[in-house]
Amino acid sequence: MKYKVKKTKSICTEITVPGDKSISHRAVMFGALANGTTEVTGLSLGQDVKSTIRCLKELGITVNMVDGVLKVTGFGLRGLRAPKGVLDAGNSGTTMRLLSGILAGQDFSVTLTGDESLSRRPMKRIIEPLQKMGAIIQGTAEGYAPLTIKGTILSSFKHELPVSSAQVKSALLLAGMYARGTTAVSEPVKSRDHTERMLSYLGANIGIDENTVTIEGFPLLKAAPIQVPGDISSAAFFIVAATIVPNSTLIIKNIGINPTRVGILEALRIMGADIVEDSFTSKNYEPSTNLQIKSIQLSGTTIAREMIPKIIDEIPVFAVAATQAKGETVIRDARELRVKETDRIKAVVENLRRMGAAVEELPDGMIIPGEQKLKGAVINSYHDHRIAMAFTIAGLIAEGETTIENADCVDISFPGFFMQLEELCHA
Ligand code: S3P
Repeated sequence: MKYKVKKTKSICTEITVPGDKSISHRAVMFGALANGTTEVTGLSLGQDVKSTIRCLKELGITVNMVDGVLKVTGFGLRGLRAPKGVLDAGNSGTTMRLLSGILAGQDFSVTLTGDESLSRRPMKRIIEPLQKMGAIIQGTAEGYAPLTIKGTILSSFKHELPVSSAQVKSALLLAGMYARGTTAVSEPVKSRDHTERMLSYLGANIGIDENTVTIEGFPLLKAAPIQVPGDISSAAFFIVAATIVPNSTLIIKNIGINPTRVGILEALRIMGADIVEDSFTSKNYEPSTNLQIKSIQLSGTTIAREMIPKIIDEIPVFAVAATQAKGETVIRDARELRVKETDRIKAVVENLRRMGAAVEELPDGMIIPGEQKLKGAVINSYHDHRIAMAFTIAGLIAEGETTIENADCVDISFPGFFMQLEELCHA
């Protein structure tokens, strides 16, 4: 599907966005490993979370949606069954990497596949550390999916990750549940900590010391209700839209503000954004709030180092905001963007240039001059949901018409994105 978007005059309304994708994956997976029925409200209904649900059903878990509440019934760490066929993780790196950690400790074998994009994403980063725990796991000669995993007895290990990654950290902590003793994972900069929070909430013994997380083997996880807050990564598209489209005021209700995820708010505020938080709550150890955003002139900034993991998924739309700031914006230390659903540095640079913007590509980021006029263009989404949505927002401030190619990929994280956008734009 192609999606066409034109310049809009303002954005004004009150909205909610779908549930947080990272928390949703974990709610389904950890619910499947707990004893009893975990009831999940606010779950993301994107394709990625559906991939996780599909895999767990194939592993013998009962998962039902009843009146908008997902019910996942687990029988503890040993409650999974050998699947009949290959498990398909679709486009979802979180599904493949986290499930690998769980499956390494079972008493059966499985093969995990994914779509074309997922089959080009690096898996050595989980294969090698899992092998250090005794896992029998293999990918292709180049270290890609499909992954074959022969479940076995695991040993605990103290891992030091060369690159911060919540997916890798989570895979190793999950494998650590199937190993006697304490498994530790240290990373250079703290990545999102939803796994630690949710496993603690369900009863695991988790320790946290700066950037090191530990877990004790064979926890008794107990089902408990989980409320998933709105996804700040989805809200980010509208936060940027309301900031850069003049005369806008937008309220977004119930957005997750876990401190390891709020880089987009921090970076935009440093640039002068008008974002107010109101009505703070916390459920299952995950904080959330309502946000009110008003349009304002931004100023350029630099984001790098410990800021990057907190904003990693929002960088494409952040780059769009940067084109409108006074002065230059520099993004560094974000090499990981090259191994996401597509090479997001290349995709952002190429598409900004298609819209007539100047941008310098760096190996680990980009330099974006400010106060640029964007022109409508044909955008290559590379079948990447966040590229498609980021450039739809760029289309709201561009002269003329912007066409997003292969726009259906937004369903990966945000089904209904275009419809919601149309409701809040005032042409
Ligand atoms: C995710 C972790 C991040 C993020 C991804 C979702 C997760 O990747 O980019 O979209 O749910 O754990 P890393 O594993 O690189 O941190």
